[in-house]
Amino acid sequence: MAKIAELVPSGKVVADIGTDHALLPLYLLEQGISDSVIAVEVGDKPFARAQKNLEDHPLGTRVDLRLGDGLQALQPQDGVEIAVIAGLGSGTIGEILQQKPPNLDKLDTFILQPMTRPDDLRAWLPGKGFAIAHEALAKDDGRLYEIFLAVCQDGSVSTSLPFGEKLLENEDPLLKEYLDLKLGKTRLILESLSRSRRKDRDELRRKFAKELKKLERLMDIVSKGK
Ligand SMILES: C[S@@+](CC[C@H](N)C(=O)[O-])C[C@H]1O[C@@H](n2cnc3c(N)ncnc32)[C@H](O)[C@@H]1O
Repeated sequence: MAKIAELVPSGKVVADIGTDHALLPLYLLEQGISDSVIAVEVGDKPFARAQKNLEDHPLGTRVDLRLGDGLQALQPQDGVEIAVIAGLGSGTIGEILQQKPPNLDKLDTFILQPMTRPDDLRAWLPGKGFAIAHEALAKDDGRLYEIFLAVCQDGSVSTSLPFGEKLLENEDPLLKEYLDLKLGKTRLILESLSRSRRKDRDELRRKFAKELKKLERLMDIVSKGK
């Protein structure tokens, strides 16, 4: 959560979509990062949890909690400039982004932290008109998570950013650990493909061999401290 909050520019009107316990809105207020946060939750139970947490917190009255589905719970007069969608699967994040009503014209920045398939989301965003302006890694309970700062562009952004580019640029301290993990997974996939009888085996082997080379190159750069 702290890593996500680091990416939220100060003084912006923020919406936290899928707020669950409403922890992020409270944190943003406590840290003085934002004065105005809208928290959106679609589930009745998490909504009740958020309501209780806000009631129990001295800053709770400053969070505008709404029961609703994603960005559809926002109105143009809310003036939301940045939305955080964290802790949801890549597919759900994509669905929520696509719901963006055109009249929310101030909302042009999204902080996304997918729980599943971050690579799919990274590849999907440019085709839907989102440029990835920044990437970061966060570690929680021993697990590594990718965070994207995506900015709306007019039309689609043609180039999909290769994995690691921004993390390398920012010298992310968790990059080496993350690459290690990805290298291990990719090698395992290649190993199991070499035993597989599936029809698309050769195509997949080519794809993952290319991926492995890319990761090895990145690891080489990171290890040399360049
Ligand atoms: C695992 S929690 C993540 C909570 C918090 N954002 C975090 O990062 O720790 C995901 C929450 O998103 C909510 N959610 C899923 N789809 C949603 C949608 N379309 N609109 C609002 N909330 C949604 C779920 O009900 C759930 O409470």
